[in-house]
Amino acid sequence: MHNEMLHHPAIPAPLRDFLRTHGQPLPEPLAAIEAAAHAGDVPIIPHETVDFFHTWFNQVHPTSVLELGTAIGFSALLFAHLMGVAGQVTTIERAPVMIAHAQDNLAAYDTTHQITLRAGDAADILPTLTAQYDVAFMDSAKAQYIHQLPLVLDRVKVGGTVFIDDVLQGGTVFLPEKEIPHRLKGIHRNLRALLEGVFAAPGLTATVIPLGDGLLMLTKDQAQHFSF
Ligand SMILES: C[S@@+](CC[C@H](N)C(=O)[O-])C[C@H]1O[C@@H](n2cnc3c(N)ncnc32)[C@H](O)[C@@H]1O
Repeated sequence: MHNEMLHHPAIPAPLRDFLRTHGQPLPEPLAAIEAAAHAGDVPIIPHETVDFFHTWFNQVHPTSVLELGTAIGFSALLFAHLMGVAGQVTTIERAPVMIAHAQDNLAAYDTTHQITLRAGDAADILPTLTAQYDVAFMDSAKAQYIHQLPLVLDRVKVGGTVFIDDVLQGGTVFLPEKEIPHRLKGIHRNLRALLEGVFAAPGLTATVIPLGDGLLMLTKDQAQHFSF
């Protein structure tokens, strides 16, 4: 579904454009996959978020990532690259056309077998996972984040980090509901509830990084089950 809110960056466009053109160059095949995604209108993380992950992974050195929303495998391949050969990524995708494309990319480029693609809806796959991860990256259906986050947090180590992409709806997420187009009201309502829930939750540290359409960053400070 086209969401016009996503075409309003959370930061001024000139700053966004500066970040997109002055970041670290990506090595191949990531640069080619990023370009192919843009050419094919596949929604992948924007380049300023790629750069942020580059910096953060180099500082923190995580070795395992759980991802919701593979699309064609760009961010999964990026995480594998940033972690080095010891790193492992489990990534979940439900759309058959994306699964097929991701399988092709992983067969061609995941030569060190770092990535496990789980085909299906995250709501069905998450309860079957047993591993604990250093990092979770949620980049799937925005209205579902609030329902999936408790299951994701169960799978993240204490001290681990959850990143949740596109939480600001072009900066409109806290506008009065009457100013939001009718078909987007549900997404807005759920994102607002998500933001209010995580900032109020004991046991979590929350902040929003205004890159792309807003990257929510959570640290799991305590071993507990969360509900929002
Ligand atoms: C923004 S794209 C992911 C982009 C990818 N993370 C990247 O940056 O390369 C979102 C993907 O999430 C998938 N998706 C949405 N809701 C999902 C769900 N509940 N379970 C699994 N996949 C889901 C969509 O089919 C879509 O391919």
